Amino acid sequence: MAIDYSQLIPNNVDLSSDRRLQRALENWQPRFLDWWKDMGPDGTSAHEVYLRTAISTDSNGWANFGYVKMPEYRWGIFLADRDPDRVIAYGDNKGKPVWQDVPGELRSTLRRLIVTQGDTEPASVEQQRLLGKTAPSLYDLRNLFQINVEEGRHLWAMVYLLHAYFGRDGREEAEEMLVRHSGDPDKPRILGAFNEATPDWLSFFMFTYFTDRDGKYQLASLAESGFDPLARSCRFMLTEEAHHMFVGETGITRILQRTCELMKEHKTDDVRSLGAIDLSTMQKYLNFHFSVSLDLFGQEASTNAANYYTMGVKGRFLETRIDDDHLLTNAAYEIDTAEDGRIVKRTVPALQALNERLRQDYIEDCAKGVLRWNKAIERAGFNFEMKLPHRAFNRRIGAFAGMRISPDGKVLSEADWTAHEGKWLPTDEDRAYVTSLMGPAITQPGKFAHWIAPPARGINNQPGDFEYVRFN
Ligand SMILES: [Fe+2]
Ligand SMILES: [Fe+2]
Repeated sequence: MAIDYSQLIPNNVDLSSDRRLQRALENWQPRFLDWWKDMGPDGTSAHEVYLRTAISTDSNGWANFGYVKMPEYRWGIFLADRDPDRVIAYGDNKGKPVWQDVPGELRSTLRRLIVTQGDTEPASVEQQRLLGKTAPSLYDLRNLFQINVEEGRHLWAMVYLLHAYFGRDGREEAEEMLVRHSGDPDKPRILGAFNEATPDWLSFFMFTYFTDRDGKYQLASLAESGFDPLARSCRFMLTEEAHHMFVGETGITRILQRTCELMKEHKTDDVRSLGAIDLSTMQKYLNFHFSVSLDLFGQEASTNAANYYTMGVKGRFLETRIDDDHLLTNAAYEIDTAEDGRIVKRTVPALQALNERLRQDYIEDCAKGVLRWNKAIERAGFNFEMKLPHRAFNRRIGAFAGMRISPDGKVLSEADWTAHEGKWLPTDEDRAYVTSLMGPAITQPGKFAHWIAPPARGINNQPGDFEYVRFN
């Protein structure tokens, strides 16, 4: 269905046919805008930004680029098209038609999943709210703002489901989304990674590479949900998520390129003296963001995950493309877990290992970008390899929480850990150094901060000196 932009809330769900729902959402809208003004990108209400806006939910609907004042961005409700023949692909309800409404017995489960996903969306906007002040170029500033408005829209996607399908409880949850704030000691966001600060652009690129990718895997498994409106919401959100991960991957590549360029030119590894980010600091930031993102997948062995699957609420990554019985009642899966302070492999019922399986899919996906980063380093003539640390490294959730484990997966004593921690995770000094590079935003078209290379291509094929943001 085409997106109706003539409405106060653009949508493709025929919102005007349900007056009660429309009024409830129109009531929430000004509160969202207040939140955006208070907690969204700081000091940007007059900027005009070259943004893409969805005009329909099929693949060519994205071709719409133009200047938008951010508070006037048309946030709305866009679901991927309905497939009338869609059936539940797995679990006890396998083969039955998907649900167009919430089954009574799944109400609280589905509500919790939607709230947990929804909470991450405004959280990341809050985490990134000051980054515009230190943007390394107009191109990067525009990408930051594109991500921010889309995360705002992802909040809309989840709030719509809460309002439309969960009655009074849902409306209250929607209010709470704007009350919790990232890093707030009293009312923090639900998940740990979304309460960490994103104080600089190296953190931002690592966040969009690793943490937005967790989003991809969570959305993909919710896109398999038997609750069809959730599945269709997530399908469309995934198309937006792809750009966020692109920004992360290419951002890191461009920093690596610049670092290698300076290493070559000055024949030294010590690029800090040249105002760039050294490779070992990059590795430490990678270690941090990867391990924090792994925690988002939850416990290695989980009865909750088993129940979600059996009930048809949350599937596996690309469920319908997997060649097995989609019941998993007799299947087994090998996981890494901890026993008596050691890391061991254990075979457990596959149903209980679904979090771990999703984490494994995620790790393999993360590794692909790392390979491309290493290619870039190699092309520049250096042999330094960026590596994903062991899945047990620096974990706060799951079997390895509280253990001291090195990036190559060795269990350490507290003393050993303390002696090495500063080589593996960013130290205060590293963070202070990276922060010191973040100068005032570079606002001249085609100019870039000293520590990052220009992108290979402009957004929507615009030339290198394109004016992506107009300051008014
Ligand atoms: Fe998102
Ligand atoms: Fe995202």
